[in-house]
Amino acid sequence: MVDHLSNTIDTLLDRTIVLGYGNVGLAVRRHLAGWPADPPRMDGKVVLVTGATSGIGLAACQGFARLGASVRALSRDQRRAEDAVGEIRRAVPGSDARGVACDVSSLEELRSFAQRFKAAEPRLDVLVNNAGAMPDHREHSVDGNELMFATHVLAPFVLTSTLGELLARSAPARVINVSSGGMYNQSLPGEDLQSEHTGYGPKKLYARTKREQVVITEQWAERLKGTGVVVHAMHPGWVDTKGVQEAMPVFLMLTRPIIRTPEQGADTIVWLGAAPEALESTGKFWHDRRPRPTHYLLGASEDTPEDRQKLWDLCSSLSRP
Ligand SMILES: NC(=O)c1ccc[n+]([C@@H]2O[C@H](COP(=O)([O-])OP(=O)(O)OC[C@H]3O[C@@H](n4cnc5c(N)ncnc54)[C@H](OP(=O)(O)O)[C@@H]3O)[C@@H](O)[C@H]2O)c1
Repeated sequence: MVDHLSNTIDTLLDRTIVLGYGNVGLAVRRHLAGWPADPPRMDGKVVLVTGATSGIGLAACQGFARLGASVRALSRDQRRAEDAVGEIRRAVPGSDARGVACDVSSLEELRSFAQRFKAAEPRLDVLVNNAGAMPDHREHSVDGNELMFATHVLAPFVLTSTLGELLARSAPARVINVSSGGMYNQSLPGEDLQSEHTGYGPKKLYARTKREQVVITEQWAERLKGTGVVVHAMHPGWVDTKGVQEAMPVFLMLTRPIIRTPEQGADTIVWLGAAPEALESTGKFWHDRRPRPTHYLLGASEDTPEDRQKLWDLCSSLSRP
């Protein structure tokens, strides 16, 4: 009876969006029956977080460091990675944090980073693909790929692929892809996977790549079954970060009273990286420590197997050296 009531409240929060995605959602859920226990210590585990210089990525690094994990904070620039390490150590004195550099939108940088990482690190227990961007006009990576596609879809694809063996050797291991609730409004775009034939709207294309990221998560989860590596996606809700301040100032003004802190936004990332419950399944889409549907009745249409295959094939062919 109590569980049923808790589930109903949790679902209502999710469907209202405003309450569920803001800080009210997290505050209420924490007090519901069945809220999963806080994650255990992670001493001896190595966690790599992309986009670690600010916002949710930095908060996730600090959360993992608090649990005793060794944290590798990735930025596109070594100096800024070191700044992030300084922030992590200020929050968690004595933590084992190191900065690593890679522009994750560049395929060549991803490959050479993965080589360096494998040479330097004997294990990798958690990979968090968190780096994200929403440019206000169409931009391309050095390889000519649409920038958000390169950052949100190709980068997680390549890091999962190139670091897959190291993750499997460290099993049980986890990959966590940071997506967005915005993806509920976007379907897979059929042939136009990099949205080159779609008028540029930052929010629309951002959400589309976040849908693609969730599909790629499910596909990797399927392929890595039996290796001891689980692959999950999550969405953090609405979080006050540099990204939102720069790309969506009006949204920030409107949501100011309820918007989450980066630490609240990172809660489910850290939980997924450490909690034993996250190893019981793979390929799920999480929010506030619970798996969520990937489609709602009034949102985007279901993906077809053909469109899913096209996405996988494109990522495979683009990421081939
Ligand atoms: N905030 C929200 O409400 C919200 C909601 C849903 C999902 N998300 C997702 O959460 C993740 C983190 O975003 P955030 O809100 O915390 O924003 P943020 O503070 O702007 O953080 C984004 C991070 O990604 C890094 N990054 C971007 N492109 C990169 C590249 N090519 N190579 C290496 N690093 C790169 C940024 O580094 P630079 O500073 O060097 O650019 C920064 O560290 C993103 O994936 C975002 O889509 C956020």
